Amino acid sequence: MKLTKKLQSTSKEFNLYARNYLSSTKENTILWKAMQYGTINGGKRIRPFLIIELSKLLKIKKSHYMRLALATELVHAYSLIHDDLPGMDNDDLRRGKPTTHKKFGEATAILAGNSLLTLSFQLLSDPAMLVSPSIKSNIIHSLSKISGYKGLAGGQSYDLLFEKKVVNEKQIVMMHELKTARLFEFCMIAPLMLSNSKSIKKMNELRTYGKNFGLIFQATDDLLDFVGKKKILGKSTQKDFKKNKGNIMKYMSVKAVKDYCNNLAILATSNSSFFKNKNNVFNLLIFHIINRVR
Ligand code: IPE
Ligand code: IPE
Ligand code: MG
Ligand code: MG
Repeated sequence: MKLTKKLQSTSKEFNLYARNYLSSTKENTILWKAMQYGTINGGKRIRPFLIIELSKLLKIKKSHYMRLALATELVHAYSLIHDDLPGMDNDDLRRGKPTTHKKFGEATAILAGNSLLTLSFQLLSDPAMLVSPSIKSNIIHSLSKISGYKGLAGGQSYDLLFEKKVVNEKQIVMMHELKTARLFEFCMIAPLMLSNSKSIKKMNELRTYGKNFGLIFQATDDLLDFVGKKKILGKSTQKDFKKNKGNIMKYMSVKAVKDYCNNLAILATSNSSFFKNKNNVFNLLIFHIINRVR
């Protein structure tokens, strides 16, 4: 199956699962509606795609990997709701629709973000997730580290600190690594944890892929803020530029960003026993991301 078709079908499957889960309760509060809005309103579902594809390769049980994919996407959804808040990027448009705080108000959006983050851990720690307690606690430990002050939230804090400042390329990459790449690392190592593998070599290979994938993903997000189309992206463009944010385009040309991404993609996929075949879905995806338009 072609990569674009595979991306579409996996995202459809994931959306169905997410929609079912988030409508399985009779909850009808404004807070819950805001949580649903921030989660089931489109999105490329790249993180679930990585988790689902890798889990299939590792022969993980479907009920386990779908739950893992949803828990991870909930962390992502929370991060987007908070990223758009007036105190952060102050964005009005996300996935072609008003941002969660524009639709539900700032206070509800903050609470929806908080609740999606905790719901993620609720899902993973649920007794219905029938995996061994040690595997479960390792996964939860890893996701909490990756989401917090030494990961996503820490990176977002640097992102705000770097606004209107002159920083160097190394600092930008460090910020990208924390705010974006860590969660992609999690997408690649969590299925391996679920498979109960003890191989440090495999863990390192998958972590490297996730990290480099995430760096490429954020660099291309920065690039698209600069050259992308609002209609295709579903979010405002040139926002980083206007706010004088620490966007990678402040320090590199379009060509330099593409070269940087290509080098990372080669680094991610060479020397890996996982992705030996050049037409492996992970190899195809990482190069596809470099030229993405949304
Ligand atoms: C946007 O992520 C924020 C970044 C980490 C760059 P995505 O581009 O994956 O957003 P959706 O989920 O497709 O809307
Ligand atoms: C991406 O933030 C990182 C997180 C949301 C954690 P950005 O501000 O770069 O992403 P967009 O461009 O608003 O989607
Ligand atoms: Mg931001
Ligand atoms: Mg933003």
